[in-house]
Amino acid sequence: MTRDEISPLAIDEHASGSDESNLSRRAMMTRPWHPWHSERVLRCITCQAVHPLRDVIYRCGSCGDLLDVAFPRPTETGAALAATFRARRMSDNPIDRSGVWRFRELLPFYDNEAQIVTYPEGNTPLLEAPKSAGYAGLRRLRFKHLGFNPTGSFKDYGMVTGVTQARILGMRAVACASTGNTSASLGAYAARAGLLPIVLVPETGVSFAKLSQSLDYGALTLMVRGDFDVAQALLRKLAPRLGIYILNSVNPFRLEGQKTVMIELLEQLGWEAPDRIVVPGGNLGNSSSFGKALRELHDLGLLSKRPRITIVQARGAAPLSEAYEGGHSETLVRVHARTLATAIKIGSPVSWKKAARAVDWSDGWVMSVSEQEIADAKAVIGQDGIGCEPASATTLAAIRRLASEGTDERIDPDETIVAILTGNVLKDPDYTIRYHQSSLFEEFRSETIVTDHGRGLTSQFANPPVVVDATEEALMAVIQERLDTIG
Ligand code: F0G
Repeated sequence: MTRDEISPLAIDEHASGSDESNLSRRAMMTRPWHPWHSERVLRCITCQAVHPLRDVIYRCGSCGDLLDVAFPRPTETGAALAATFRARRMSDNPIDRSGVWRFRELLPFYDNEAQIVTYPEGNTPLLEAPKSAGYAGLRRLRFKHLGFNPTGSFKDYGMVTGVTQARILGMRAVACASTGNTSASLGAYAARAGLLPIVLVPETGVSFAKLSQSLDYGALTLMVRGDFDVAQALLRKLAPRLGIYILNSVNPFRLEGQKTVMIELLEQLGWEAPDRIVVPGGNLGNSSSFGKALRELHDLGLLSKRPRITIVQARGAAPLSEAYEGGHSETLVRVHARTLATAIKIGSPVSWKKAARAVDWSDGWVMSVSEQEIADAKAVIGQDGIGCEPASATTLAAIRRLASEGTDERIDPDETIVAILTGNVLKDPDYTIRYHQSSLFEEFRSETIVTDHGRGLTSQFANPPVVVDATEEALMAVIQERLDTIG
């Protein structure tokens, strides 16, 4: 793919600091993108129509497109905000300690602090990953690991704001369609806020670990005989009829919370923006909120440069990547998703326009990686003592390819790169065990049956368990053999 294949971008007007590189760039979206609004509203990303903040809507009443939460520019300077965010880390107030509400000047949709729900969430680590860096051919690579959240995935960053808005609206029940992580997060947050959680998951393909979470949190767990995309479409029709509140990433209040991943990251980096941020893409909510956060921080003067948002999809579930490659600018062709990275097994991502906006604004990139690349990258991340679920490993797979191959987009070994790990390694133990026992197959399922046993993946970094007799000698021999390999 070359950028020239994609339709021209109308230059956005920045309140501060316009980036010259944008002028010659070609990209997908064509609309200006202003971060602020004179009042707190829901604003359409396409026709800019505004709707009251307290309307229970997910799409624009005029044109049907996605909505942003828009609000006035904070009155404080960027530097003053940064100082406030930092000072709150010393506070004992739970909302100051939350890795989301610590940044609440950029989440001003609530009316008083009593409305705020917190677990707490966020405050996730930025981890050095020397083995992964070496694997990718980089001098340095850091992972921001969002799996360190209360339910083990990045979803908690957004669920906390989504459930807060549900409470403000006086909803009784909240619902989502999910590949597993959203349902786990929704289950926990709804339970803590005293709301009924309702989750729709595909009947097959959701990891047991994730399913077990929503059961334990008391969610009404509906295993739909269809894939994620079908469940998402059904929920959209059902929710208004039942008066339940949708907390998928089509809900702009969820994406507000996920902005704080970026704010927290920038703070961890001393407000020195990295060259590139690499993030897995499924329903494309996370990359969308990263873009919105960076857009706001940029306008507040808190961004030293625009990090290039690089979205990675699994090859069999890559509609955005295919749209960029095909150069079609205003449409996304839905695909029938196939990947063992079940978290991102999504063929019709709801937030694709917002994600494209983020990629274009940041001069970013969209690509896909193979099942084999994902599996090996995951094992290498494990060797750094970090671990993640398969969807997260798309990041390292992509970085390795961009650093080693002569594609149009090439990573320089000296680039500062942060890759986002979205889920904890314990989220999908079955995949991990099958990899290390060299029995991971590209086995794809339709809603109810295995359609294709596919080829076996190669487990280049397999570390299988060793069954050993219960004697001192037998154990000695095996351990000694391994000790000899480390010299
Ligand atoms: N990584 C993990 C571990 C996920 O669970 C998801 C999405 C993604 C990446 C992709 O993020 O959708 O914001 O682009 N999981 C959703 C779910 C769809 O239902 O749990 P996205």
